[in-house]
Amino acid sequence: MRKAVLCGNWKMNKNDQELGAFFSEFLEKTGSWSSRVEVMFAVPYTLLKSAVELTKDRGITILAQNVSQHDAGAYTGEISTAMLQDVGVQASLIGHSERRQYFNETDSSVSEKTQRCLQAGLLPMVCVGETLEQREAKQTATVVASQIAAVIDQVKDPEKTIFAYEPVWAIGTGLTASNEQAQEVHAAIRQQLAKKYGEDVAQKLRILYGGSAKPGNIAGLLEQTDIDGGLVGGASLKAADFAAMVQAADKQLNP
Ligand code: PGA
Repeated sequence: MRKAVLCGNWKMNKNDQELGAFFSEFLEKTGSWSSRVEVMFAVPYTLLKSAVELTKDRGITILAQNVSQHDAGAYTGEISTAMLQDVGVQASLIGHSERRQYFNETDSSVSEKTQRCLQAGLLPMVCVGETLEQREAKQTATVVASQIAAVIDQVKDPEKTIFAYEPVWAIGTGLTASNEQAQEVHAAIRQQLAKKYGEDVAQKLRILYGGSAKPGNIAGLLEQTDIDGGLVGGASLKAADFAAMVQAADKQLNP
């Protein structure tokens, strides 16, 4: 059975002091959780080292929010996989819709970044999802399938990559995809994997839902067969909310 993953995405929020305060409250509120739930946080670059140190004995994985597809060299403002590993980071978000929308990331850069992570031994959490216009034009299935197709050759080992389905219209808007809408896309992603690598491989892949996930809707989402957790923006900034989500996942997997 797949382990659930709850991953906070802090985006461009919090400073070093707030990081410390967050983790004391979060760890106090959650206490401990079972090994069937993995807790992760994608934090700004400036907080990575402190976050790794603060969480190292708690089994929490710290992710970068982006990484360069290049090894090293004249790429002003970029951060390499080796630099992340140097401060103990083992994973990175790749192709978040805000990176695609505001920083011109494309399926091709997402594919190169995924490959770079896997070659370096970093876990990529690859984000896909359709815009509102695409959903309204009934293009959700084809858009998501082509975003997945861009990286599918690299996902040979399903335990070394995580996918996050985040409908762009649900991110930060308070609108959540219904459980059924999300499940439908997650099932299609898994089928795409199964077609390429077989059912056994596809069953091992974790696919998270993102887009206004919060304490009040996480349990319903997690009940869906192909939803393995959440990538959580706004609600992960409040220790009490994110702790409640971790507890909900824990309860669901260990009734
Ligand atoms: P949200 O963000 O939970 O605030 O909608 C999710 C994300 O962008 O990862």
